[in-house]
Amino acid sequence: MNIILLGPPGAGKGTQARILIEERGMVQLSTGDMLRAAQASGSELGRKVKDIMARGDLVTDEIVIGLIAEQLESGAAEKGVIFDGFPRTLPQADALGELLEAKGLKLDRVIEMRVDDDELIARVTGRFTCGACGEVYHDVTKRPKVEGVCDKCGAKDSFVRRADDNEESMRKRLFNYYRDTSPLIGYYYAKGLLRTVNGLGAIEEVAAEIRKALDE
Ligand code: AP5
Ligand code: ZN
Repeated sequence: MNIILLGPPGAGKGTQARILIEERGMVQLSTGDMLRAAQASGSELGRKVKDIMARGDLVTDEIVIGLIAEQLESGAAEKGVIFDGFPRTLPQADALGELLEAKGLKLDRVIEMRVDDDELIARVTGRFTCGACGEVYHDVTKRPKVEGVCDKCGAKDSFVRRADDNEESMRKRLFNYYRDTSPLIGYYYAKGLLRTVNGLGAIEEVAAEIRKALDE
Protein backbone atom coordinates (compact mmCIF):
# COMPACT_ATOMS: atom_id res chain seq x y z
CA MET A 1 0.00 0.00 0.00
CA ASN A 2 1.34 3.44 -0.96
CA ILE A 3 0.02 6.47 0.86
CA ILE A 4 0.58 10.20 1.27
CA LEU A 5 0.38 11.95 4.65
CA LEU A 6 -0.78 15.42 3.68
CA GLY A 7 -0.99 18.23 6.17
CA PRO A 8 0.48 21.54 7.30
CA PRO A 9 3.81 21.77 9.13
CA GLY A 10 3.41 20.35 12.63
CA ALA A 11 0.26 18.36 11.81
CA GLY A 12 1.97 15.18 13.04
CA LYS A 13 2.95 13.58 9.71
CA GLY A 14 6.36 12.45 10.92
CA THR A 15 4.95 11.21 14.24
CA GLN A 16 2.26 9.13 12.53
CA ALA A 17 4.66 7.86 9.87
CA ARG A 18 6.83 6.35 12.61
CA ILE A 19 3.81 4.53 14.03
CA LEU A 20 2.92 3.14 10.59
CA ILE A 21 6.50 1.97 10.05
CA GLU A 22 6.38 0.01 13.32
CA GLU A 23 2.93 -1.43 12.74
CA ARG A 24 3.06 -2.18 9.02
CA GLY A 25 6.72 -2.29 8.05
CA MET A 26 6.16 0.45 5.51
CA VAL A 27 8.97 2.72 4.31
CA GLN A 28 8.86 6.47 4.96
CA LEU A 29 10.04 8.83 2.25
CA SER A 30 10.32 12.29 3.79
CA THR A 31 11.78 14.95 1.50
CA GLY A 32 12.33 17.17 4.58
CA ASP A 33 14.45 14.44 6.23
CA MET A 34 16.39 13.87 2.98
CA LEU A 35 17.13 17.59 2.65
CA ARG A 36 18.21 17.84 6.31
CA ALA A 37 20.48 14.81 5.79
CA ALA A 38 22.02 16.57 2.78
CA GLN A 39 22.72 19.59 4.98
CA ALA A 40 24.24 17.45 7.72
CA SER A 41 26.54 15.76 5.21
CA GLY A 42 27.76 19.15 3.94
CA SER A 43 26.96 18.23 0.32
CA GLU A 44 26.46 20.81 -2.41
CA LEU A 45 22.71 20.17 -2.32
CA GLY A 46 22.72 20.71 1.46
CA ARG A 47 24.48 24.06 1.10
CA LYS A 48 22.09 25.09 -1.65
CA VAL A 49 18.92 24.47 0.39
CA LYS A 50 20.09 25.53 3.88
CA ASP A 51 18.90 29.17 3.85
CA ILE A 52 15.74 28.41 1.89
CA MET A 53 14.67 25.83 4.48
CA ALA A 54 15.66 27.92 7.51
CA ARG A 55 13.39 30.75 6.39
CA GLY A 56 10.50 28.38 5.65
CA ASP A 57 10.38 28.56 1.86
CA LEU A 58 9.95 25.62 -0.49
CA VAL A 59 12.92 24.25 -2.41
CA THR A 60 12.42 23.75 -6.16
CA ASP A 61 10.17 21.02 -7.54
CA GLU A 62 13.12 19.76 -9.58
CA ILE A 63 15.22 19.03 -6.48
CA VAL A 64 12.57 17.14 -4.52
CA ILE A 65 11.21 15.23 -7.51
CA GLY A 66 14.81 14.13 -8.20
CA LEU A 67 15.20 12.89 -4.60
CA ILE A 68 11.98 10.87 -4.74
CA ALA A 69 12.78 9.46 -8.19
CA GLU A 70 16.15 8.27 -6.87
CA GLN A 71 14.50 6.47 -3.94
CA LEU A 72 11.86 4.80 -6.09
CA GLU A 73 14.56 3.81 -8.57
CA SER A 74 16.49 2.07 -5.79
CA GLY A 75 13.50 -0.10 -4.88
CA ALA A 76 12.13 1.83 -1.87
CA ALA A 77 8.56 1.16 -2.95
CA GLU A 78 8.71 -2.60 -2.59
CA LYS A 79 7.35 -2.60 0.97
CA GLY A 80 4.77 0.12 0.55
CA VAL A 81 5.63 3.78 0.95
CA ILE A 82 4.49 6.60 3.22
CA PHE A 83 5.16 9.85 1.37
CA ASP A 84 5.69 12.50 4.07
CA GLY A 85 6.06 16.13 3.06
CA PHE A 86 5.91 15.20 -0.63
CA PRO A 87 4.15 16.11 -2.89
CA ARG A 88 3.76 19.75 -1.86
CA THR A 89 2.82 21.40 -5.17
CA LEU A 90 0.63 20.39 -8.11
CA PRO A 91 3.66 19.74 -10.39
CA GLN A 92 5.10 17.46 -7.67
CA ALA A 93 1.79 15.58 -7.47
CA ASP A 94 1.74 15.07 -11.25
CA ALA A 95 5.36 13.92 -11.19
CA LEU A 96 4.66 11.41 -8.40
CA GLY A 97 1.77 9.95 -10.40
CA GLU A 98 4.05 9.50 -13.40
CA LEU A 99 6.92 8.01 -11.37
CA LEU A 100 4.63 5.45 -9.74
CA GLU A 101 2.94 4.58 -13.01
CA ALA A 102 6.31 3.97 -14.67
CA LYS A 103 7.01 1.39 -11.96
CA GLY A 104 3.58 -0.23 -12.32
CA LEU A 105 2.60 1.12 -8.88
CA LYS A 106 -0.26 3.24 -7.66
CA LEU A 107 -1.29 5.47 -4.82
CA ASP A 108 -3.86 3.85 -2.51
CA ARG A 109 -4.83 6.63 -0.08
CA VAL A 110 -4.08 10.24 0.71
CA ILE A 111 -4.60 11.03 4.39
CA GLU A 112 -5.23 14.70 5.05
CA MET A 113 -4.45 15.64 8.67
CA ARG A 114 -6.36 18.72 9.86
CA VAL A 115 -5.06 20.87 12.70
CA ASP A 116 -5.70 24.57 13.34
CA ASP A 117 -2.96 27.18 13.10
CA ASP A 118 -2.54 28.07 16.80
CA GLU A 119 -2.05 24.41 17.67
CA LEU A 120 0.42 23.97 14.78
CA ILE A 121 2.55 26.86 16.01
CA ALA A 122 2.54 25.48 19.57
CA ARG A 123 3.54 22.03 18.30
CA VAL A 124 6.38 23.19 16.09
CA THR A 125 7.91 25.68 18.54
CA GLY A 126 7.96 22.94 21.24
CA ARG A 127 9.37 20.18 19.06
CA PHE A 128 12.73 18.44 19.53
CA THR A 129 14.04 15.26 17.95
CA CYS A 130 16.52 12.54 18.88
CA GLY A 131 19.52 13.10 16.62
CA ALA A 132 20.43 9.42 16.90
CA CYS A 133 17.16 7.67 15.95
CA GLY A 134 14.78 10.43 14.80
CA GLU A 135 12.15 9.96 17.53
CA VAL A 136 10.03 13.14 17.78
CA TYR A 137 9.29 14.81 21.14
CA HIS A 138 7.54 17.92 22.45
CA ASP A 139 8.29 20.20 25.42
CA VAL A 140 4.74 19.78 26.76
CA THR A 141 2.94 16.87 25.12
CA LYS A 142 5.69 14.29 24.68
CA ARG A 143 8.66 14.50 27.00
CA PRO A 144 11.19 11.68 27.36
CA LYS A 145 10.60 9.53 30.47
CA VAL A 146 14.10 10.27 31.74
CA GLU A 147 15.29 13.86 31.19
CA GLY A 148 17.94 14.02 28.43
CA VAL A 149 17.60 10.32 27.42
CA CYS A 150 15.77 9.11 24.31
CA ASP A 151 12.96 6.65 25.19
CA LYS A 152 13.41 4.84 21.91
CA CYS A 153 17.16 4.28 21.52
CA GLY A 154 18.59 5.27 24.92
CA ALA A 155 20.93 7.91 23.44
CA LYS A 156 21.97 10.59 25.97
CA ASP A 157 21.93 14.33 25.23
CA SER A 158 21.24 13.66 21.58
CA PHE A 159 18.24 15.99 21.25
CA VAL A 160 18.24 18.58 18.47
CA ARG A 161 15.94 21.40 17.40
CA ARG A 162 15.33 22.43 13.79
CA ALA A 163 16.50 25.81 12.44
CA ASP A 164 13.01 26.44 10.97
CA ASP A 165 11.06 25.68 14.16
CA ASN A 166 10.65 29.29 15.22
CA GLU A 167 7.51 31.38 14.95
CA GLU A 168 8.69 33.56 12.04
CA SER A 169 9.69 30.65 9.77
CA MET A 170 6.60 28.75 10.85
CA ARG A 171 4.29 31.56 9.69
CA LYS A 172 6.02 31.45 6.30
CA ARG A 173 5.67 27.65 6.14
CA LEU A 174 1.96 27.93 6.92
CA PHE A 175 1.50 30.60 4.24
CA ASN A 176 3.27 28.39 1.71
CA TYR A 177 1.16 25.42 2.76
CA TYR A 178 -2.12 27.22 2.16
CA ARG A 179 -0.92 28.73 -1.13
CA ASP A 180 1.00 25.85 -2.73
CA THR A 181 0.04 22.60 -0.99
CA SER A 182 -3.62 22.88 0.01
CA PRO A 183 -4.75 22.68 -3.67
CA LEU A 184 -3.66 19.03 -3.47
CA ILE A 185 -6.64 18.34 -1.20
CA GLY A 186 -9.02 18.97 -4.12
CA TYR A 187 -6.67 17.23 -6.55
CA TYR A 188 -6.75 13.95 -4.59
CA TYR A 189 -10.43 14.30 -3.64
CA ALA A 190 -11.23 14.36 -7.35
CA LYS A 191 -9.27 11.13 -7.77
CA GLY A 192 -11.30 9.50 -4.95
CA LEU A 193 -8.17 8.95 -2.84
CA LEU A 194 -8.65 11.52 -0.09
CA ARG A 195 -9.54 10.66 3.53
CA THR A 196 -9.54 13.44 6.12
CA VAL A 197 -8.68 12.82 9.77
CA ASN A 198 -8.89 15.14 12.75
CA GLY A 199 -5.27 15.72 13.71
CA LEU A 200 -6.16 17.56 16.92
CA GLY A 201 -6.61 14.52 19.16
CA ALA A 202 -3.91 12.78 21.17
CA ILE A 203 -1.22 10.97 19.12
CA GLU A 204 -2.84 7.55 19.69
CA GLU A 205 -6.32 8.86 18.79
CA VAL A 206 -5.03 10.22 15.51
CA ALA A 207 -3.26 6.91 14.84
CA ALA A 208 -6.57 5.09 15.36
CA GLU A 209 -8.34 7.35 12.86
CA ILE A 210 -5.57 6.77 10.32
CA ARG A 211 -5.78 2.98 10.77
CA LYS A 212 -9.51 3.18 10.11
CA ALA A 213 -9.01 5.33 7.01
CA LEU A 214 -6.41 2.90 5.62
CA ASP A 215 -8.32 -0.30 6.33
CA GLU A 216 -11.86 0.67 5.30
P1 AP5 B 1 9.37 19.02 6.37
O1 AP5 B 1 10.50 18.37 7.05
O2 AP5 B 1 8.50 18.21 5.48
O3 AP5 B 1 8.53 19.77 7.46
P2 AP5 B 1 6.97 20.15 7.56
O4 AP5 B 1 6.05 19.79 6.48
O5 AP5 B 1 7.05 21.60 7.87
O6 AP5 B 1 6.46 19.23 8.63
P3 AP5 B 1 7.00 19.03 10.01
O7 AP5 B 1 8.11 18.06 10.01
O8 AP5 B 1 7.28 20.38 10.63
O9 AP5 B 1 5.72 18.49 10.78
P4 AP5 B 1 5.06 17.07 10.94
O10 AP5 B 1 3.70 17.14 10.36
O11 AP5 B 1 5.96 15.97 10.49
O12 AP5 B 1 4.92 17.06 12.54
P5 AP5 B 1 5.61 16.15 13.67
O13 AP5 B 1 5.11 14.77 13.59
O14 AP5 B 1 7.08 16.38 13.73
O15 AP5 B 1 9.90 20.23 5.47
C1 AP5 B 1 10.86 21.15 5.95
C2 AP5 B 1 11.31 22.07 4.82
O16 AP5 B 1 11.95 21.29 3.79
C3 AP5 B 1 10.20 22.82 4.07
O17 AP5 B 1 9.84 24.02 4.74
C4 AP5 B 1 10.89 23.07 2.72
O18 AP5 B 1 11.81 24.12 2.80
C5 AP5 B 1 11.64 21.77 2.49
N1 AP5 B 1 10.85 20.75 1.77
C6 AP5 B 1 10.55 19.50 2.24
N2 AP5 B 1 9.80 18.82 1.35
C7 AP5 B 1 9.62 19.66 0.29
C8 AP5 B 1 8.90 19.54 -0.93
N3 AP5 B 1 8.22 18.42 -1.23
N4 AP5 B 1 8.92 20.59 -1.78
C9 AP5 B 1 9.60 21.72 -1.49
N5 AP5 B 1 10.28 21.91 -0.34
C10 AP5 B 1 10.29 20.88 0.55
O19 AP5 B 1 4.92 16.84 14.96
C11 AP5 B 1 5.21 18.18 15.34
C12 AP5 B 1 5.24 18.30 16.88
O20 AP5 B 1 3.94 18.04 17.41
C13 AP5 B 1 6.16 17.27 17.57
O21 AP5 B 1 6.78 17.91 18.68
C14 AP5 B 1 5.22 16.15 18.03
O22 AP5 B 1 5.68 15.48 19.20
C15 AP5 B 1 3.94 16.92 18.30
N6 AP5 B 1 2.74 16.15 18.00
C16 AP5 B 1 2.52 15.33 16.92
N7 AP5 B 1 1.28 14.82 16.97
C17 AP5 B 1 0.68 15.34 18.08
C18 AP5 B 1 -0.63 15.21 18.66
N8 AP5 B 1 -1.55 14.42 18.08
N9 AP5 B 1 -0.91 15.89 19.79
C19 AP5 B 1 0.04 16.69 20.38
N10 AP5 B 1 1.29 16.86 19.89
C20 AP5 B 1 1.60 16.20 18.75
ZN1 ZN C 1 16.67 8.09 19.95
